[in-house]
Amino acid sequence: MTTKTNVQADEGNTVEGRSSSGSHAAVVLTGDRPTGALHLGHFAGSLQNRLVLQEQYPQTILIADLQALTDNAGRSARVAEHILDLAIDYLAVGIDPTRTTIAIQSQLPALAELTVLYLNLVTVSRLERNPTVKAEIELRGFARDIPAGFLCYPVSQAADITGFRGTLVPVGEDQLPMIEQTNEIVRRINRMVGHVILPECAALLSNTPRLPGTDGRKASKSLSNAIDLGATDSEIRTAVQSMYTDPAHQRASDPGKVDGNVVFAYLDAFDPDTNAVADLKNRYRDGGLGDVLVKRRLEDVLQALIAPIRRRRLELAGDLAFVRQVLKEGTAAARAVTDSVAVDVRAAFSLDAVVR
Ligand code: TRP
Repeated sequence: MTTKTNVQADEGNTVEGRSSSGSHAAVVLTGDRPTGALHLGHFAGSLQNRLVLQEQYPQTILIADLQALTDNAGRSARVAEHILDLAIDYLAVGIDPTRTTIAIQSQLPALAELTVLYLNLVTVSRLERNPTVKAEIELRGFARDIPAGFLCYPVSQAADITGFRGTLVPVGEDQLPMIEQTNEIVRRINRMVGHVILPECAALLSNTPRLPGTDGRKASKSLSNAIDLGATDSEIRTAVQSMYTDPAHQRASDPGKVDGNVVFAYLDAFDPDTNAVADLKNRYRDGGLGDVLVKRRLEDVLQALIAPIRRRRLELAGDLAFVRQVLKEGTAAARAVTDSVAVDVRAAFSLDAVVR
């Protein structure tokens, strides 16, 4: 059977492909830093897309432990611990290891080699202009003491993507600058060689590229305003009850604001009944619908979404041998691919010209 597929990439590019036909229109590559549990923001921003994409295209997910070290060098044991957690999260939400390759970045030496080579194609001022990195430097309070590896992690990310000849990258909005920098490097290499040895890539943003945290700020582990995929019922309840709504909506009878209201942002992202959500929004705007009722609905929606994920996480945590096996096989498969790309890029830099 051949299924025609159609996914929207950013800037309205349409990526078309056929699955099961032997030739693939897209190669999906994405990754996460193993720095803590995944939360609903990751689910809405990228995991949901990955679940759809694995049905259509070859897909690799990298557990980016080297990238995590760029600002966690002193906490490497924690990073190592989080690798298994991340793999458990993937499998629990439905990433299927027979369709998606899950690999550990640091076990792929070709990626480190690509990074070193690409660093020659990037200026320090370009690195300093990356808006996501800039914001992160501020958030972490690095001031002038920026680890060099941190400033350069977009280059390592370019290695991740090109190391698999990735063309489609399902990520959150904050990763768009990384895609842009990757394509600059790709164009520079292709120009250097005189023909196309690496493909350019496109981001695939979700309909909810940036789910807010429960307080309305950016969802982040460090701000404790995110709902983890393994959250218990009572954690979900507490989080929903604390959600930022509309401070001017004092009484149920008052008209309320839906824009900027976190409860509605989550309903939009996760409630499968979009008509019911539209109806709730109208009633809320008109006045006559209290926060308590809307929050109760969201709580039900989130419990229904998270309960099966939590159950599966517990099962997987009890079968770590299986999780390790998935990582071992995925990483071995990924090594073959990245090694072969490194051969081409080494040649582009004339590295094997004298002895090999
Ligand atoms: N920088 C990404 C994040 O923080 C993680 C990541 C590492 C990644 N390598 C990648 C994302 C390659 C996409 C492609 O979420």
